[in-house]
Amino acid sequence: MPWRVGPALRKAGVPPDPYAVWLSEVMLQQTTVAAVRDYHARFLSIWPTVADLAAAEDAEVMAAWAGLGYYARARNLLRCARAVVADHGGVFPDTYDALLQLPGIGPYTAAAVAAIAFDRPETVVDGNVERVMARLHDEHRPLPAAKPILTAFAKELTPDKRAGDYAQAVMDLGATICTPRSPACGICPWRDPCKARVAGTAPELPKKTPKKATPTRFGIVYVARRADGAWLLETRPESGLLGGMLGWPGSDWSDDPKPDPPLDADWTLLDEEARHTFTHFHLRLKIMCARLPLAAKPARGRFIPAAEFSPAALPTAMRKVFDLAHATLREN
Ligand code: ADE
Repeated sequence: MPWRVGPALRKAGVPPDPYAVWLSEVMLQQTTVAAVRDYHARFLSIWPTVADLAAAEDAEVMAAWAGLGYYARARNLLRCARAVVADHGGVFPDTYDALLQLPGIGPYTAAAVAAIAFDRPETVVDGNVERVMARLHDEHRPLPAAKPILTAFAKELTPDKRAGDYAQAVMDLGATICTPRSPACGICPWRDPCKARVAGTAPELPKKTPKKATPTRFGIVYVARRADGAWLLETRPESGLLGGMLGWPGSDWSDDPKPDPPLDADWTLLDEEARHTFTHFHLRLKIMCARLPLAAKPARGRFIPAAEFSPAALPTAMRKVFDLAHATLREN
């Protein structure tokens, strides 16, 4: 992975950049390495140091994060960068406890940065590590209740030196060999000590307590385009889903959303709905489209000129709405 210091540089004594490590770990939470790669490179090229990121405009950072999801993390990312600058002179603290004090840094990120960037003997546990530990010990008690047990197994194995390399090796093992469905036990470096391989239970571990079915919420969005091509968008409130992101004005998201157009206009309903799945629910958005005169005065939102509007700066749910509405509101 591009943010890692390779063995040659490591041997030459080049330490990892804590800022790059922290950024990758925040981005990698609940997102794949493949999805993160380009975002990480782009962030580092726009904001090469934590001080650069701390000095950025909120809206620029939110736009650069668009598509990664979990937008509260992007806001916490900025809060954390600003705290590192304000309270630590722009230098990341180098212990688990001090890292944990920073905004947006929880036990996982604190352990990962302490181990990977500062070679502290901390135990890093993500879903991959849990799976590897459950199999190694043939542990059948289900997650999430079994989490402390699997963490204790991981801790027992964490070495005093190079705990960061160890943690990343176990995560990589989980991502490439000890995979959820068909683990490649034949080529696994832990095939001998692995109790689940011997028992033949590896593919069914870790066990999980069944989750409640994911509910569906509904909403209505209003996509309006002014005669000069400008789009009517609004910055969503800081709190709540997609907080601080750009989006189309719309209703609440609920079982029975109330229509809430930003202005009176000749709204037409699109045949297709936009569908998007968040962590805890599915969302289905009805899309209303309208063309507006130059003198239109909406009660909410602001017009963004066509030349300044970038669909890539929208969160994915709102970009799906754009993709469906755009054919109807194309300029001829
Ligand atoms: N998943 C999250 N962080 C990771 C890392 N540093 N290496 C491998 N997989 C990861």
